[in-house]
Amino acid sequence: MKFNTKTIHGGQHNVDPAYGSVMPPIYQTSTYSQTTPGGHKGFEYSRSGNPTRAALERSLASIENGKYGLAFGSGLAAIDAVIKLLNPGDEVISTNDLYGGSYRLFRKVFEKFGIKFHFIGMQEASGIEDYVNNNTKLLWVETPTNPMMNIIDIEACSKIAKKHKLLLAVDNTFATPYLQQPLELGADIVMHSATKYLGGHSDVVMGALIVNDDAIADQLYFIQNASGAVCGPQDSFLVLRGIKTLHLRMQRHCENGELIAKFLATHPKVDKVYWPGFPSHPNHEIAKKQMKSFGGMISFTMKGNTLADAVKVVEKLKIFTLAESLGGVESLAGHPASMTHASIPKEEREKPGVVDSLIRLSVGIEDADDLIEDLKQALS
Ligand SMILES: Cc1ncc(COP(=O)(O)O)c(C=O)c1O
Repeated sequence: MKFNTKTIHGGQHNVDPAYGSVMPPIYQTSTYSQTTPGGHKGFEYSRSGNPTRAALERSLASIENGKYGLAFGSGLAAIDAVIKLLNPGDEVISTNDLYGGSYRLFRKVFEKFGIKFHFIGMQEASGIEDYVNNNTKLLWVETPTNPMMNIIDIEACSKIAKKHKLLLAVDNTFATPYLQQPLELGADIVMHSATKYLGGHSDVVMGALIVNDDAIADQLYFIQNASGAVCGPQDSFLVLRGIKTLHLRMQRHCENGELIAKFLATHPKVDKVYWPGFPSHPNHEIAKKQMKSFGGMISFTMKGNTLADAVKVVEKLKIFTLAESLGGVESLAGHPASMTHASIPKEEREKPGVVDSLIRLSVGIEDADDLIEDLKQALS
């Protein structure tokens, strides 16, 4: 199957045996009857497995061209499971402008358990090897990065990971498998905040992991069940439904993203526009190589770089909603310094460019003309 077919049918071969329902039923149950101890039909307790979640997990594996999919209660719960593959003393090399919540989990939770994190600029993949030592176990890559839209070369990272026998995990939340498929580029683990584009309608919080390797899958299934951060059947159903239109939504997100990035780039009050589709973007060629198109996430700064100006703009927007999160059908605007990235100290967040006037847009699938008019009036 090709990608668009997979979003609808991938892993969904098991037609409901009871009534032939086209969508999998929402199995809203915590447990399953057994005829004799151990005599069940594949499910015994819904933390360990649930048929609606299993349908979603097969779909996740299918769209990322992976063998195994695992769904979690949030994106952070999925990341938490990956870091639990490690042991005290192990080291992780991560990009330095990743999602603030990932940074907080690494720094404030896992450092306490003796895992060491190096946050570095990964735009030049060759620089990563300077930080590899005998304790290094994992490369954590986010591309495009949140919110600076930096692009990291997944294939180059995979070569480094293989050379030093490291795991390579890629947070594919911004790109989605419609735009890039990290397992095909050599990654071992793909992670999603399914809250975003996979769900696509801002009505569910969920995380996902997709892998190919049997041993890594076994360990992750063990952690998923042992730590228990699973999602419920209703949420599984919603994300499964969301995935069925992922390709259509992403196509429009990309079209609208391009129009808005180009509009912002010519606006007299706008200073810098961060969007990997511009030939002037430092890693535009890598983006072209590993992504099908450039997505609907855009960040920009205002001339003068004052917090007050940025706040005024986001307050005046009418169609763009000022809100955390991204990837839904509706356009959202955010102010990373005070919202998504507030958990990163100011000196640390300003290094990669998360300055006071930075505004992040998640461009939705409304009419682009309406979105541009909205930005025009807010910037005026
Ligand atoms: C790139 C990225 N990764 C991970 C997460 C965390 O996901 P969740 O909010 O579903 O826990 C987010 C949330 O915004 C994100 O943007």
